[in-house]
Amino acid sequence: MFKRVSASFLCIDYENKDILLQAVKDAEKAGCNFIHFDVMDGVFVPRKTFDEKLVNFVKENTSLMLDVHLMVANPEKVIDKYIELGADIISFHYEAVKDAEPLLKKIKSKNILAGIAISPKTPAYKIREIVRSGLVDVVLVMGVEPGAAGQSFIPGSAEKVAEIHDYSRNVYIEIDGGVNVKNAALLRKVGANILVSSSAIYNAKNMKKAVSQIKGNDYASRLAKFFSKK
Ligand code: DX5
Ligand code: ZN
Repeated sequence: MFKRVSASFLCIDYENKDILLQAVKDAEKAGCNFIHFDVMDGVFVPRKTFDEKLVNFVKENTSLMLDVHLMVANPEKVIDKYIELGADIISFHYEAVKDAEPLLKKIKSKNILAGIAISPKTPAYKIREIVRSGLVDVVLVMGVEPGAAGQSFIPGSAEKVAEIHDYSRNVYIEIDGGVNVKNAALLRKVGANILVSSSAIYNAKNMKKAVSQIKGNDYASRLAKFFSKK
């Protein structure tokens, strides 16, 4: 299945509008498919980041798809704002709700991809039934503790992706946190199809190359070249 890259602004100075707009352009030029918004409320995670106003500002300046990752307590209180502005994916944390079903139904009823996110300490089996229920379009597996960019990937997260892949072939699996050009191949192999990245792409010398390596396009084109010579 086609692999997609979702660019997160967490490692850049996104409060500076010029830097932000440049980062949007860079993501487009480098071949990213989504812009990933790490919305943090200072409660579910200690840090507080942007809100729907920034998402809307970016929306007006890009044609890329909008991938909203809500790291907030009580996501039901803010979800309408992201539905109204026309996000393409909205994911909220399993750990932040008592019952995920009504929220997933609400997101899906608006023709938006409904995502459920799990933090490193949450085992995959906790969401097995909900994933199999058909209410989930996207499972976002955190590769690091939510809250900051630039952390190292927690190895067990790749197994978690594989487990989710076993539960259902009808969901997109998004891996978020600690993704880089080295671990991307394994993550793609075990079933991740949306790879989120902040540091590995924005701190790369050549962003386009990093995005293409994370997507696995470099491998695909080498393979195509190899067979075209035969
Ligand atoms: C962490 C966020 C991630 C983060 C990824 O809480 O959900 O999206 O920005 O950053 P990197 O790619 O630097 O690990
Ligand atoms: Zn995220």
